[in-house]
Amino acid sequence: MPVIELHDVTRKYDEGPPALRDVSLSVSAGEAVAILGPSGSGKSTLLNLIAGLDRPTAGTVTVDGVRVDKLGEAGSARYRRARIGMVFQFFNLLDDLTVADNVMLPAQLSGMTRADAQRRAAELLGTLGVDRHSAAYPGRLSGGERQRVAVARALMNRPALLLADEPTGALDTAAGDDVRQLLNELHADGQTIVLVTHDLALAESCATRTVQLVDGRIAADTTLAARR
Ligand SMILES: Nc1ncnc2c1ncn2[C@@H]1O[C@H](COP(=O)(O)OP(=O)(O)OP(=O)(O)O)[C@@H](O)[C@H]1O
Ligand SMILES: [Mg+2]
Repeated sequence: MPVIELHDVTRKYDEGPPALRDVSLSVSAGEAVAILGPSGSGKSTLLNLIAGLDRPTAGTVTVDGVRVDKLGEAGSARYRRARIGMVFQFFNLLDDLTVADNVMLPAQLSGMTRADAQRRAAELLGTLGVDRHSAAYPGRLSGGERQRVAVARALMNRPALLLADEPTGALDTAAGDDVRQLLNELHADGQTIVLVTHDLALAESCATRTVQLVDGRIAADTTLAARR
């Protein structure tokens, strides 16, 4: 069963051409898909529809068996907590919470006990190589370290789907390589990933499939040779 199923999805705004038109896309469990395309081609719009942060004008969005396009505000917040992990270009960490508390936040919102959340946060921060910063505030960390913390937070609730919008966009080459490597490892562990990027080289290093958007339509959908 596919994790993501978009059927004839269109998203129009009051002004301008549609951000997405008649997009149909199916993503299976364990795939790592990179969404590519020029600025304004609809990449973030597509990701936001999958995350339930936006609603299509027409068409259906089904993720992990949930009709995301039909959810109300509370339902969509619950859906994200239970099934989606998100990573953004600018980390979106809370600066007045410690690294550990940032990572634990999604678990606490979904009712995990503090002890269980602490255990899982420590495990994730260890795996991602930033456990020595657990008690620090995000402002003290480098960009690459912050993005690792953001990935740990995204994985806290064991999401069916990890979404990332330009996860290396704000990082220098070395930090970008770390995050790339990390996404590769997650994919190898079976995590389903959809990532948006401008950078074809990044997509090819992280993804098993690329979907190219042009003017809100899918212009190409390419399965890449299996990696290692
Ligand atoms: N809230 C909005 N109101 C009106 N138009 C919007 C809105 N959000 C996005 N758009 C338009 O929809 C189109 C697609 O935007 P989107 O953000 O998905 O592009 P993108 O591919 O992510 O671009 P970038 O690479 O620059 O992030 C753009 O033309 C944009 O101006
Ligand atoms: Mg964008």
